[in-house]
Amino acid sequence: MKSFSLAKPVAGIIGVLALAGTISFAAAQQPRGERPQPRLTDLMQGAQVGHIKLWFAGKAGNWGLATYETRQLKARLEDAAQLYQSLPVNDITTMAKPLDAISAAIAAKDTRQFARAYDELTAGCNSCHQSAKLGFVSIRRPTANPFSDQEFEAGKK
Ligand code: HEC
Repeated sequence: MKSFSLAKPVAGIIGVLALAGTISFAAAQQPRGERPQPRLTDLMQGAQVGHIKLWFAGKAGNWGLATYETRQLKARLEDAAQLYQSLPVNDITTMAKPLDAISAAIAAKDTRQFARAYDELTAGCNSCHQSAKLGFVSIRRPTANPFSDQEFEAGKK
């Protein structure tokens, strides 16, 4: 799969989106290309898992895991952007800023900075859902960790 930067979406996306304006729900479900591709809903459910795990890793100050989850989440969003070129380009590029802010907070090992960047990221999830007329898919900070089989506390094995 071609690598792709969130900060610099391919020109093709811009062309398509200049015409489309906002995303249509049906269009978002049409993968480009012939090979079987992950469905957008599957990529999004993966993003949701990453979003949850990232929170608990950051909250625990488990910066190694937080770095890993940030990378996974970014890759999923990049896949979504590349495979589903009808996604609004602005809603994809705006994810780059909070993802960078999360990386900066991780580098600074700063849990408060992490929480602020995390909320910005979550706002980005919701802003795309709203432009896709999917405002009912509303993301927030997780309150409980459903992944009880995984250790999130830093330094534990
Ligand atoms: C650029 C646009 C965009 C961004 C950014 C985005 N989403 Fe989505 N998301 C969508 C679209 C479009 C769908 C509907 C997919 C479908 O049903 O085919 C969706 C659906 C979902 C769903 C519902 C999937 C299901 O089957 O229950 C979840 C959960 C979700 N997104 C989580 C997230 C999270 C978490 C983030 C942020 C880390 C995020 N999304 C960022 C566009 C986006």
